Amino acid sequence: MAKIIVNGGCGYIGSHTTVALQNAGFEVVIFDNLSNSRLDTLDKISEITGIRPEFEQLDCTDKQAMQDAFSRHNDAIGVIHFAALKAVGESVEKPIMYYRNNILSLLNTLEMMEKFNIPNIVFSSSATVYGIPDELPVTEESPLRPATSPYGQTKIMAETIIRDTVTANPKIHAVLLRYFNPIGAHPSGKIGELPIGVPNNLMPYITQVAAGIRERLNIFGNDYDTPDGFCIRDYIDVNDLAEAHVAALNHMIKKDVTVEIYNLGTGHGLSVMELVKAFEAATGVKLPYAITARRPGDVPAIWACSDLANKQLGWYAKTPLEETMRNAWKWQKNVSGI
Ligand code: NAD
Ligand code: UFG
Repeated sequence: MAKIIVNGGCGYIGSHTTVALQNAGFEVVIFDNLSNSRLDTLDKISEITGIRPEFEQLDCTDKQAMQDAFSRHNDAIGVIHFAALKAVGESVEKPIMYYRNNILSLLNTLEMMEKFNIPNIVFSSSATVYGIPDELPVTEESPLRPATSPYGQTKIMAETIIRDTVTANPKIHAVLLRYFNPIGAHPSGKIGELPIGVPNNLMPYITQVAAGIRERLNIFGNDYDTPDGFCIRDYIDVNDLAEAHVAALNHMIKKDVTVEIYNLGTGHGLSVMELVKAFEAATGVKLPYAITARRPGDVPAIWACSDLANKQLGWYAKTPLEETMRNAWKWQKNVSGI
């Protein structure tokens, strides 16, 4: 069985990807410092797949710890690098913490890949690299824009660091995955997104309002230049997103990849109000909401062209929105004990 190191594998996207990797026959070892996740995620993963992933509790910014762990797992054929801090607002307040964590963890990973001859890396990038796009949908050829937050900058920098590394060392192969807006949870309801404190993102806020944890959803602006005035995003089911990582690895194993970039979205934009209505329709739960001021820095509308991932990775976003909504609600009910 081919072994994959999953940095940040206890997190939201990493845990779903671990499930997908195990189901596809890969052996997974997770490196995570649990700064934004819980150890019992390993139990949940093994309840779902029947296999408990190996686990190394370590901070990817700690070079010695990384060297020790990589030397124990130098038979791995690839790394998926999820480990990062991701709260946009917090990154504006604490830029050094974000640059240190997100950049140093990647540098150590690449250095250890070189040292231990591990050839493949899949990196979690983001639609944030496109800023406010001129044309929709965005393709991988769309221009990158300077990010409005240190978090976004770390994604642009990380992409550059990976490209330069691959140019200098052709033994390293990279796939950069630009995620649009991941939502939902595993159909079992055992793993999902665990926001700490007040959620910044729309979907966990919606499910917390539905669970009665928050009084109402604040919708940030209804005066955008969009058909219904609300912001538009491309919401991608987290299980579909997880499958894209398996497809990327299989692609790299079969083909001589240098650096390849893929947008991961559904190809369809949904407004905030459309998402709210979809949640209500799928779950039968009514969501109290209020329209409030725009959130500074919000992109009015963005959605992906994922044709390249469809064609080259054979990957498609498959999960119907209704199912995604039901899974998100099932997970929230489990977490809240409803
Ligand atoms: P998450 O916070 O749930 O998972 C990240 C995991 O990495 C956590 O388990 C955390 O404990 C771990 N981690 C963080 N820093 C670490 C370090 N220095 N050493 C070891 N472990 C560390 O986040 P997520 O939503 O699963 O996101 C995964 C990746 O995808 C991140 O790189 C994020 O920037 C990117 N991304 C996420 C979204 C989104 O909306 N969720 C969108 C685009 C890109
Ligand atoms: N929104 C609300 N109310 C809320 C939360 C969000 O109305 O309580 C709206 C936002 O204004 C936006 C939409 O819901 O129009 C989606 O907001 P999210 O915060 O869920 O997602 P964003 O697209 O703004 O941000 C996400 C990630 C960032 C990443 C960015 C681009 O959270 O990390 O996508 O990839 F940088």
